[in-house]
Formats: sequence, structure tokens, C-alpha cells
Amino acid sequence: MKNDMKEILLTEEQIQKKIKELGHTITEEYKDHFPLFVGVLKGALPFMADLVKAVDTHLEMDFMDVSSYGKSMVSSGEVKIVKDLDTKVEGRDVLIVEDIIDSGLTLSYLIELFKYRKAKSVKVVTLLDKPEGRKVDLVPDLTGFIVPDEFVVGYGLDFAERYRNLPYVGILKPEVYEG
Ligand code: XMP
Ligand code: MG
Repeated sequence: MKNDMKEILLTEEQIQKKIKELGHTITEEYKDHFPLFVGVLKGALPFMADLVKAVDTHLEMDFMDVSSYGKSMVSSGEVKIVKDLDTKVEGRDVLIVEDIIDSGLTLSYLIELFKYRKAKSVKVVTLLDKPEGRKVDLVPDLTGFIVPDEFVVGYGLDFAERYRNLPYVGILKPEVYEG
């Protein structure tokens, strides 16, 4: 799979080091709050798995699947709930765990949804942020890395469902997605 990469943006070591730091920050912030971590499927799965192991306080995990991208690389701006939470968010301190924020449309939808459902607090941790892609005003509470406005894959992020299992984040060679 490495042959398909034009460039490796973030190595496995860089990602894991950053997740340890985020874990410490989250531990301090949420100690004794029993936060509800909401992972956004499928992209946030590897990040969620590593992040919760770096957090040293009790927490609950749940997952949501929303679609706005499909197989296309361009955001449609449409958000559809494919799988909802099994957990009640009322009165809970919710931490949304995302792989990447691009336009911000997916997240602003989720934040509003959880507020509507009477969460006590709603915050966002994202591994990657692409601020240049923003279509709505949204700043994550915690960010791993800022990335350029290019299509990235790996560590949960896919191209047509592939590359999610890479332990690093990279940019594909154009011939991979053009041909
Ligand atoms: P929005 O635009 O709503 O999008 O902030 C967030 C979701 O879009 C997907 N996304 C990407 N997926 N490489 C990917 O594999 C990318 O560069 C990329 N940019 C956005 C992703 O699923 C994210 O949850
Ligand atoms: Mg995707």
C-alpha cells in the first residue's frame, strides 16, 4: 500500500505520541464526569480505539454512523443518520471523536443534535483538521494535527473504503484515484 502514497504526512510514531498527549488532556478535563465518547463511524474507529486507551478515567463509548461523503471525495453537505446512538445523551458530557473535520457540516449537525437531546456539554476532539475546507464556523475543542486541503487516507480515512487500516496518514498518488 505504501507504493500508492505520494507522501506520508504523519507517521505512526507522530500519531501515537499525539494521542498520548490528547489522552492526558482529556483525563484532566473529564475526571469524575463519566464522559460519553461518541465515535463517528467508520473513520474515527482507529483513533477512538487508541484514544480511549490513553485516557485514565471511567468513560462510556458509543458510535454513530452518519453519511455525507459516500464514495465521492466531495462533501455533499447532506447529513444522514445511518446508525444512531444506543445511549441517552441527556445530562451527559459528550465528547465527539472524529477522524477529520473538513467542511464542518457533519460535526455541526451532530453538535446541534446532541444539544437538542439535552447533553450537559458537547465537545469535539479530532485527529485531523483541514481548516481551509470549512463551510461553517466550527473550531474543534481538541485537535491532533492541522493538514493541508488535500485528500488524505490512512488511520481510519479511506478512499473507496480502502486504506483505513494504514497505521499512518498519507496523500495518495493522483494515478491511484484517477485511474
Ligand atoms: P465534513 O466536510 O462534514 O466531513 O467536515 C467530515 C467527514 O468527511 C470525510 N473526509 C475525508 N475522508 N479523506 C477521507 O478519507 C479526506 O481527506 C477527508 N476529508 C473529509 C471524513 O469521513 C470525515 O468524517
Ligand atoms: Mg470517508
